[in-house]
Amino acid sequence: MLVSLPPCPLLEHRKLKHMFMKCVKPKKSHEIKRMAAICARSCQQTSVDFVVDFGAGVGHLARILAYGYGINVCCLEMQPDLNEQAVAIDAKLESTAAKHMEASETTHFKRPVHLTQRLSSDTKPVHFIESIREAFHLPDTDFQFGIIGLHPCGDLGATLMRMFLNCKQAKFLNFVGCCYQKMSTRQTQPRKELHGYPLSSRLQNDPNCQLSYEAREIACHAMEQYSDRLQAGQYEYLKIHSLRAAAERIIVEQLPDLRHSALRNVKHAPGMTFNDYFQKAIEGTRFASLQAANPEQIDADLLHWRRIVCFYTVRLMLAPLVESIILYDRGMFLLENGCQVNIEAIFDPRLSPRNHITSAIKS
Ligand SMILES: C[S@@+](CC[C@H](N)C(=O)[O-])C[C@H]1O[C@@H](n2cnc3c(N)ncnc32)[C@H](O)[C@@H]1O
Repeated sequence: MLVSLPPCPLLEHRKLKHMFMKCVKPKKSHEIKRMAAICARSCQQTSVDFVVDFGAGVGHLARILAYGYGINVCCLEMQPDLNEQAVAIDAKLESTAAKHMEASETTHFKRPVHLTQRLSSDTKPVHFIESIREAFHLPDTDFQFGIIGLHPCGDLGATLMRMFLNCKQAKFLNFVGCCYQKMSTRQTQPRKELHGYPLSSRLQNDPNCQLSYEAREIACHAMEQYSDRLQAGQYEYLKIHSLRAAAERIIVEQLPDLRHSALRNVKHAPGMTFNDYFQKAIEGTRFASLQAANPEQIDADLLHWRRIVCFYTVRLMLAPLVESIILYDRGMFLLENGCQVNIEAIFDPRLSPRNHITSAIKS
């Protein structure tokens, strides 16, 4: 049965709506509104006491759930500075609300709890449960909660699924994955006991189901905008990958151990030179000292931009297939462990390429 999503009137409040969207880009705004409504519906359906947000960042999602929907949220984030920022934004929202709302309108407010914690496959469920009991000052561990995650990167997706399965108190799971290339695999980390991919015994036992770094990386990209530009003949924008490829050659030559590292995102403007691109891409990163040497080599690399567009187009065509394999692996893992699972596209892929939510409840 299709159950409609609960509304959040505070997101339309004349004075308060800006507080939920402070420093939030349109992509994130779209994601957190939709994800919060879905998580609020799960809370209604499962009667949990609170939700735990894995990799909560500065708590944008938690803020809507806590102040908008009145749901208790425990945010787990490994970067202490993000937690400090989250606490400051929460406080600002509360003081703005105190100025512009009647006390009776804020009785449902729940202040999120922000814990600095790095979760991994080594985190013991008993320690995890104890840390959230302490965070909420609860007398015992006789509580129920939901696990949520908006773009938990790399292995954090696998970690939250394992935690869901291993904690009897965890009643539902809602998460949208990201950065599949950061997941550990048997190939990349042979000594690790538990990997991020594959998770299901079905794929673990099939030697043909390994996915390379390159395959997992392309699975994070959506094809819609690229396809629009290709059809409109806006090739200037599509040259960005040939600039990135020329930069990778410099990295591999000068710092070979750092191949495949992330550079800064650079918006490609038509006519952008390689040096413009390179300086912006490495600014403030550990590559800042790199020299864009050998202009002949760079020019020769850039001449191949058409081949790179063709190659990237073919890769992009396969991206949904690779992402489907990763999502099915996660779904099968949860099914194999006795859950009911649903995987659904919930975001506009033009705004938010990683747009599939994996939801589970225990049967
Ligand atoms: C892509 S961001 C998403 C942040 C937030 N959920 C949002 O949508 O704005 C992933 C976050 O997870 C955090 N993170 C990654 N691995 C983690 C781990 N093992 N334990 C705790 N936090 C982690 C990162 O520091 C980062 O803030």
